Amino acid sequence: MKTGVCYYPEHWPEERWAIDAKHMRQIGLQVIRVGEFAWSRLEDEAGNLSFDWLERSIDTLYAEGLSVVLGTPTATPPRWMLDRYPDMLAVDANGRTRDFGSRRHYCFSYEPYLLECQQIVTSLAQRFGDHPAIIAWQTDNEYGCHETSISYSSHAQTAFRTWCKDQYGSIESLNDAWGNLFWSMEYDTFEQIGLPTGTVTESNPSHQLAFWRFSSHQIRQFNKAQVDIIKQYSKGTDVLHNFMGNFVEFDHHDVSQDLDIATWDNYPLGFLTRDNTNQQDQERFSRTGHPDSSAFHHDLYRGCCNGRWWVMEQQPGPVNWAPYNPSPIDGMVRLWGWEAFAHGAEVMSYFRWRQAPFAQEQTHAGLLLSDASEDVAAVEIAQLNQELEWLRQATATDNRTRDVNPGSPDVLSRKVESDVAIVFSYAGIAIQDIQSPGGSQFSALTFCQQVYSACRQWGASIDIVSKDAKLDGYKMVILCNCTEDDPVLVNKLVKLREAQRCVIVMFPGTGSRNANYRFPENLPPGHFQQLLNLRVTRSESLPPHEKLVATSSDKHSISCRQWREHIESDIPPTSRFADTWGFHYSDQRIHYINAVPEQQDLTILIGELLQQAKVDIKNLGPYLRTQKLGPWRLAFNFGADAVNLIESLGAVFDMHSDTTLMIGSQTLAQGEIALWTVE
Ligand code: GAL
Repeated sequence: MKTGVCYYPEHWPEERWAIDAKHMRQIGLQVIRVGEFAWSRLEDEAGNLSFDWLERSIDTLYAEGLSVVLGTPTATPPRWMLDRYPDMLAVDANGRTRDFGSRRHYCFSYEPYLLECQQIVTSLAQRFGDHPAIIAWQTDNEYGCHETSISYSSHAQTAFRTWCKDQYGSIESLNDAWGNLFWSMEYDTFEQIGLPTGTVTESNPSHQLAFWRFSSHQIRQFNKAQVDIIKQYSKGTDVLHNFMGNFVEFDHHDVSQDLDIATWDNYPLGFLTRDNTNQQDQERFSRTGHPDSSAFHHDLYRGCCNGRWWVMEQQPGPVNWAPYNPSPIDGMVRLWGWEAFAHGAEVMSYFRWRQAPFAQEQTHAGLLLSDASEDVAAVEIAQLNQELEWLRQATATDNRTRDVNPGSPDVLSRKVESDVAIVFSYAGIAIQDIQSPGGSQFSALTFCQQVYSACRQWGASIDIVSKDAKLDGYKMVILCNCTEDDPVLVNKLVKLREAQRCVIVMFPGTGSRNANYRFPENLPPGHFQQLLNLRVTRSESLPPHEKLVATSSDKHSISCRQWREHIESDIPPTSRFADTWGFHYSDQRIHYINAVPEQQDLTILIGELLQQAKVDIKNLGPYLRTQKLGPWRLAFNFGADAVNLIESLGAVFDMHSDTTLMIGSQTLAQGEIALWTVE
C-alpha cells in the first residue's frame, strides 16, 4: 500500500509547489491527486484553455518522484458554462432548480453539458495522456454527492421516456409491467410519461424503481463517456472514480464495470455523527468512528473492480460537514491507514494536503494547517509510512510464496481471502427504500451493516460482492438485501446447495419483488423458494416501541424489532413469537430468517450460523477487530479500555503466548494496532 494526498496547486502560489512536493515526499507520500475542481482555471472562458500551470505543477511533483492522479474537473462547471447553457442545472424533487455557487450543479441528462465534458476531457487526455507522472485518472468527483444522482429536469424526463421505450418496447408492455391499470394510471404513449414526483399521493413504486434504474444508467453513461476518451489517449493508465460512504443512490457495481479501480472517500467520524442513529454508538465511537464502518466500505468497494480498490480521500482530523465534527483521538489516522492496508488497499490517500483558509471548507483539517505548519495527521502518516517501509523491507527478504495483488507488484499488496460473502444489491436496497417494509425508521443499508458487524464481531473475514460474483469457495453466503427476485442468482445458489458447499442465509424481504416492482406470482421469496420450501403470507412493520420475542423449546430467546414476516411451510420454525408466528426456518445448511433481530441477538444468531459453516470464530466484543492479509494478521482497538490480545484473540486468531509482534504490543490500548506474521 502506498499513501497519497489530495492537492490543489491552484490554491497556492507557484513558489509553494516545490516546497510542498518536497514536504510530501519527506512524509512518505507517493500518490498525489490534482485537478478535479480546477475547471475555471483550466478554461477561463469557452475554448480558452490554460493547461501550462497544471503541467508545471505535475512536473514539479514528478521531479520529486511523486506519482499523480489527474482528476477531470467536471464536478465544477465554471460560471460561463451556465451563461451558455442556463438549462444545464439539475432540478430537485420539488421542482426547484439547483443553482450555481457550490458544486455538482449539472444534470446528467443534459447533453450539451456532456459534450462540454467530453471536450475538456479530450483536451486534458491529449495533453497529459503520456505524462510519465500520471498513474491514474479520476473521473469527475463523487457522483451523487449533495443529492445529485437524481434530477427531475425536463431533459431527464425526455431521456427517461426514451429509456422506457428501450426497456419495454411498447407502451402496453410498460403499462402491464408497472400495473398501471391500478388507479387508471395507464399511458397511451411514451411521451405522456412523467417523472415520479409531485403526484397527489405516492407514485407507482414500479415507476419509482424504473426512474432509479434510469438515473443510475445516466451516471454510468456520463462516466463511460469520459473513460472512453481517457482510454484512447492515455493507453494503459488506470481510470478510477471516488465513490462515497453510506451511499447507495445508484448502482456502483454497474458504474464500476467501466473502471479499473474503485476508490472511495472515508470520513469515519463524519459518517458516524451524520448517519448513525444509535445513541450508544454515538457515545462510544464519536472520536474513533464505528469499528465496522471503514471495514464495511473497504470490503464493499473491493468487490467492485475485481479486487482493485483505494481510499481516495481519508479524514485527517475534524471535517466541516457533519452535524458535529469532533477530533479523532491521537493514533486514529494511523490506525485507519493500517486498517485499509489490512483490507487490501493499493493506495490510502488523504484529504487534503493543506487546510484552505477560504471558502466552504475552512474548518476542515488537512495534513498541514493553513499556515503550512504540520498538523497531527502529517506526523501520524509519516509514522505509518515508516512502518510500511520497514515491513516492506522485512518482507522483501522473506522467501515465502507470495500471492501478490495483480494490480500492484508491491510485496505488501496481497489479496484478502474471506470465508463469508455478503451478496449486496443496490437495486435491492432501492426496492426496500421505495416502500420500506420495516416502517419509516428501517434502513436497508443499515440493516446490512448490522449483519456485517455481527460477522465482524466473531472475527470473520468478509467479501461484499455483487449478485454476478462467483460464489464458490465461500463457507457462508448471506443475502440481506437481495429483494429482487432473481432467477439467475437463485440458480447459482441452488448449485452451491447441491454441492453442499456452504451455509446460505436469507434475511426478510429476499426475492419479494420482481425487476418491475411486482410481487412474485408464487409469493415471496419467489424463485428463492427453490432453496427452501416456504412462502411469506404476510409482512408487518412494527412501531418503535414494539419488541417481539421469539422463544425456542429450549427457552432460547431472540428479540426482534422493525419488521417480520409470517411464513407458511412444512418446515418447523426454530422458535416462535408469543402469537405463534414462527421465526427462523432452516433445512440443513439453508436458512431463512424472517425478522430483524436486535443487534445483540443478531450477533448470537450469526455466531451459530458461522459455527455451522465451520468458520473459525471467537467473540471479540464491540471494540476489538482483526483482519488477516496474506501472511499477516492485524488487530485494532477502538474501545477506551486496553485489551490483552492473548486472551481476546487466542489461538483461533493466531495469537499465542510466544507470538512475536512486528508492530504493537500484546496489550493494545485504544487507537493502537498490532501486526504479526502467522504463516
Ligand atoms: C468529499 C469531497 C471533497 C471534500 C471532502 C470534505 O465529499 O469529495 O471534495 O469536499 O468531502 O470532507
